[in-house]
Amino acid sequence: MGWVGSSIAISILQSGIVKELLLNDIQKDIAEGEALDLNHSSSFLPSAKVRSAEIEEMKTCRAVIVTAGRGGKPGESRPELLRENIEIARNISRKLIGFEGLLIVVTNPVDALTHFYRVYTGLPEHRVIGTGTFLDSARLREIIGDRLKVDAKSIHADVIGEHGDTAVVMWSRAMVGSIPLRSWDGWSADYENDIEREVRNAAQEIIKRKGATNHAIGLVTATLIKWLLRDERRVLTVAVELTGQYGLKNIALSLPCLISADGIERIICPDLTDQETEKLMRSAREIDKTIQNGAQSGS
Ligand SMILES: NC(=O)c1ccc[n+]([C@@H]2O[C@H](COP(=O)([O-])OP(=O)(O)OC[C@H]3O[C@@H](n4cnc5c(N)ncnc54)[C@H](O)[C@@H]3O)[C@@H](O)[C@H]2O)c1
Repeated sequence: MGWVGSSIAISILQSGIVKELLLNDIQKDIAEGEALDLNHSSSFLPSAKVRSAEIEEMKTCRAVIVTAGRGGKPGESRPELLRENIEIARNISRKLIGFEGLLIVVTNPVDALTHFYRVYTGLPEHRVIGTGTFLDSARLREIIGDRLKVDAKSIHADVIGEHGDTAVVMWSRAMVGSIPLRSWDGWSADYENDIEREVRNAAQEIIKRKGATNHAIGLVTATLIKWLLRDERRVLTVAVELTGQYGLKNIALSLPCLISADGIERIICPDLTDQETEKLMRSAREIDKTIQNGAQSGS
């Protein structure tokens, strides 16, 4: 229930998707304080009961969202966070043995941790979902929309691969409404490198100024939970353990996925250009390196 957990909680309450919201933090006072504070919103939001709880109590919930762990520091890369956050993952997973709902991983490095949470909980691949590049895709859509003076909701463009430095923008598949972005009047190929850099550096720019990112990831996660629990069957980019897609397995990374109330129903492998495929493989190698480092630090 730090920066990210509390933002997710208020966004979930605003979405009206839950009747009961359980909060946990290793610092018990924080979870209790947030529960008291959030309950005072009941005059304004769809009714829901919020209370602090032990992680073991969450085993009967339909979904559990993990944000536990340290955030990034200015200049620090996500893999550096791994060592501390992997120990927390082991601890929390132990408390969730027997859980049958959906596990949403937000803590960074989110791709490697999606893999470790799946391994440590023993849950099937389709029920452990990392927010992955869903946030990067939202940032990309906002930046493209801003350049073109088109609302972000009419920009259909996705980031796949790592939620991090090697994230891959699928430029060849990007659309404005039903028009390919690269054919859009006013678009220039020169924009692509700049925008990619802006998406990649977005988190660092925010962390540099305010110490954390929270509001957008709060909305991203609350939206993901809403679409999952309402069985909305949307296609979005989230991180999931791969089982042979593009020849990759034993790592989690983001690809477009069809989601349902049961989790990830289908992982979609779009046709990519040679350059995009090469970048995706680089992204996979980077995540694999992080996982191998994490496995060594945890052994
Ligand atoms: N995936 C994304 O797109 C995305 C976006 C933003 C932040 N994040 C990540 O989310 C994580 C949380 O960030 P934050 O800014 O909220 O950090 P924070 O330090 O504000 O909050 C983390 C909280 O976790 C708690 N905690 C630590 N160990 C715990 C345990 N074993 N059980 C229960 N609670 C525990 C801490 O007490 C703290 O309150 C970080 O890893 C950050 O990098 C991910």
